[in-house]
Amino acid sequence: MHKICLIPGDGIGLEVIPATRRVLEATGLPITFITADAGWSTFERLGTSVPTATLNAVRDADATLAGAFTSPSAKVAGFAGAIRYIRRTLDLYANLRPAKTRPVPGCFQGVDMMMVRENTEGLYVEVERRYGDIAIADVKISRSSSERIARVAAEQARARRGVVHVVHKANVLPLTSGLFLDTVMDVIRREYPDVTAHDIIVDACAMKLVREPESFDVLVTTNLFGDILSDLMAGLVGGLGLAPSANLGDAQAVFEPVHGSAPDIAGRGVANPLATIVTSCMMLDHLKEHETAARLQGAVDRVLERGPLTRDLGGEASTEEMTDAVITAYLEA
Ligand code: NAI
Ligand code: MG
Repeated sequence: MHKICLIPGDGIGLEVIPATRRVLEATGLPITFITADAGWSTFERLGTSVPTATLNAVRDADATLAGAFTSPSAKVAGFAGAIRYIRRTLDLYANLRPAKTRPVPGCFQGVDMMMVRENTEGLYVEVERRYGDIAIADVKISRSSSERIARVAAEQARARRGVVHVVHKANVLPLTSGLFLDTVMDVIRREYPDVTAHDIIVDACAMKLVREPESFDVLVTTNLFGDILSDLMAGLVGGLGLAPSANLGDAQAVFEPVHGSAPDIAGRGVANPLATIVTSCMMLDHLKEHETAARLQGAVDRVLERGPLTRDLGGEASTEEMTDAVITAYLEA
């Protein structure tokens, strides 16, 4: 029996998590679900965005599937962004974001790459200060965190095509970005002689991702660059409505779609559930349910080919209709 913690969160999280739960139930796998609260609405209700009970539920589960969490752009006293808080508190140091060609119009062909984003440091330590009209943010890079993310990237590359691009800005930030670059390069050269490591400056990387996305296998980078580039990568292969991710630590794993709470469409039943459904495929692989994961991914691809599609993909289907179509495609496979 797999114990899965569901955290719907805010906005369309409340729509795509129940949809994905229906799909997982239809697979017939032995799963018990528990549901936990986090996010902006939880903060408004309880004064904390991630209650202790939720952290304990995540610790206790074999895996967690999260929807999306709203963060206001202005500073709110006492508020911490839920997913960032969960990542840091549970030391979920590796954020994996695959991008692969899918059968949708406008999708780049031949793309199969994996972003490995350092998930605990960089600018995301969220230490900012304001001196009148000047504001300063800290960037933290440590050798130990750079070493462990290098190992995750190299292991990913080993299971794929054996190539890692280390993405950095060491030409401008030799102490911080430079420490990341040197450490990652060192680990891969010393411990993974079978893996090829290239270094690439982040701006050049952004252009090359658009011009020759098929030339990338694994990318590894610091927190903010990984955040930005992984949205770009998602845009090459069908958009945020299809993009999955995993937050992995040594003890816990929290899976979530790359997209946010989409307040512009929330509550209308039109969100694309596929990002969360393919995120659940990553979760099933993590739980070693490889056969079900592959069959479910196949069902998603068949729905992408024959419809019905939600609005973000040019169709008119509702969240429920698309979810039903995935279940039908799964069961007929
Ligand atoms: P967003 O990803 O929520 O939305 C960007 C655009 O993509 C919107 O037009 C939205 O309608 C569309 N979109 C996203 N997911 C979709 C789906 N499944 N189906 C159809 N269309 C979809 O990003 P945005 O607008 O920048 O942020 C909104 C809120 O979400 C903010 O409070 C932000 O902090 C939060 N956020 C949370 C994340 C997380 O929980 N990991 C990640 C990104 C943003
Ligand atoms: Mg993002």
